[in-house]
Amino acid sequence: MTLVKGEGVYVWDAEGNRYIDGSSGPVCVNIGYGVEEVADAIARQMKEIAYAHSSRFTAESVLDCAEKLARFTPPSLNRVFFCSGGSEATEAAAKMARQYHLEQGDASRYKVVARWQSYHGNTLGALSMSGNIARRRRYEPMLIDFPHIPPAYCYRCWFGKTRDSCDLDCAWALDREIRVVGSKYASAFIAEPVVGATLGTVPAPDGYFQVIREICDEHGVLFIADEVMTGFGRTGRNFGIEHWGVEPDIIATAKGLSSGYLPLGAVVASDKVYEAFGDPFAHGHTYGSHPVACAIGAAVIDYIEKHRLVQRSAELGSYLLKRLEALHDHSSVGDVRGLGLFAGIEFVRDKESKEPFPPKAKFSHRVLERCMGNGLLVYPMMGTVDGVKGDHIQVAPPLVVTRPQIDEIVGLLERSIAEAEGEVLRIFGGASM
Ligand SMILES: Cc1ncc(COP(=O)(O)O)c(C=O)c1O
Repeated sequence: MTLVKGEGVYVWDAEGNRYIDGSSGPVCVNIGYGVEEVADAIARQMKEIAYAHSSRFTAESVLDCAEKLARFTPPSLNRVFFCSGGSEATEAAAKMARQYHLEQGDASRYKVVARWQSYHGNTLGALSMSGNIARRRRYEPMLIDFPHIPPAYCYRCWFGKTRDSCDLDCAWALDREIRVVGSKYASAFIAEPVVGATLGTVPAPDGYFQVIREICDEHGVLFIADEVMTGFGRTGRNFGIEHWGVEPDIIATAKGLSSGYLPLGAVVASDKVYEAFGDPFAHGHTYGSHPVACAIGAAVIDYIEKHRLVQRSAELGSYLLKRLEALHDHSSVGDVRGLGLFAGIEFVRDKESKEPFPPKAKFSHRVLERCMGNGLLVYPMMGTVDGVKGDHIQVAPPLVVTRPQIDEIVGLLERSIAEAEGEVLRIFGGASM
């Protein structure tokens, strides 16, 4: 399908059909479509200086964006490295952690511990950290052997606990894994504060990242927060990790930073990490610190601040979640979760047992098809339970969304889910599925 126009939370295709974008593309277009200030910033920068090779030069827009980004991140994170997307950012963060240990004389540390059912990107290094089984499978022999621990996934706790009996075993699994790996080999731990596409918007439980921070400190391991999806107000805070009141050593971010207007990613290092470096960071790309992309990043941060979009995400996020909770009336809606304007719905065949639909039913994709037919865009994924079974969608409209537009999204979703349920029942029947 060809899109020809975008304005606010709406996009139009070449046939003239209008869609309300309930997922900001892949949770990316945080400030919405067609923002003139961004278009103006692009034009201005293009005319002034479109490119400056970052090995030798910089541009005002790069410095401006770095300064604004450093102010936007938690207080101890002030040193910015720009790249062109999320995979480049997480991979650069892993390399930065490695060089940090080298600079400290800790040459044996290189392993990045990650989590199953996570996503950190698709390039080979980033995919090696990713715990997304479907995306890894074909490339498994080419991946780096990084260890993975279980996810923090309360709806289907891998440790068989409930919220009442929870001792944060999922966090303490990191301590165990580092001891198994040998802390002298462990370089960093990477995690999404709210697991995005792979699990369908799953926030870690209270206390989780405080324990993670403690464990990382005890073992001299750096904590990398993957804020590619959760940055720039998406969860109702500047960055998702702020909900837990801890500061990571490195933030990897992208998506909302340029809100999709051009490719842009960034790694933001803490002063502790930066000060350990004697040599410059031995990494870079031709398009790193691109002046035009950085002009967009600066304009996007200005726009977020001017329109108080972070506060808006917190306020309207509560409204969105409340409205989505009502979808529990549908037989297929097993769990509704989220933080800020970042929500997820997990679908099940049986609410009581939490049994998922069989993969052949492609339930989440059916929901998307129905949504699109009804003029709504959401972000679907399968493999929620174990990488193969399970279905969810992410609902994450641009942060400029209004209450009536949230009502519109939820109304269309309600109709689409009912249609998908009917369709699956018609095709597969109940018991024989
Ligand atoms: C948490 C997270 N990290 C990394 C990435 C990879 O980003 P990109 O697709 O820009 O390479 C994504 C993409 O969805 C993501 O959600």
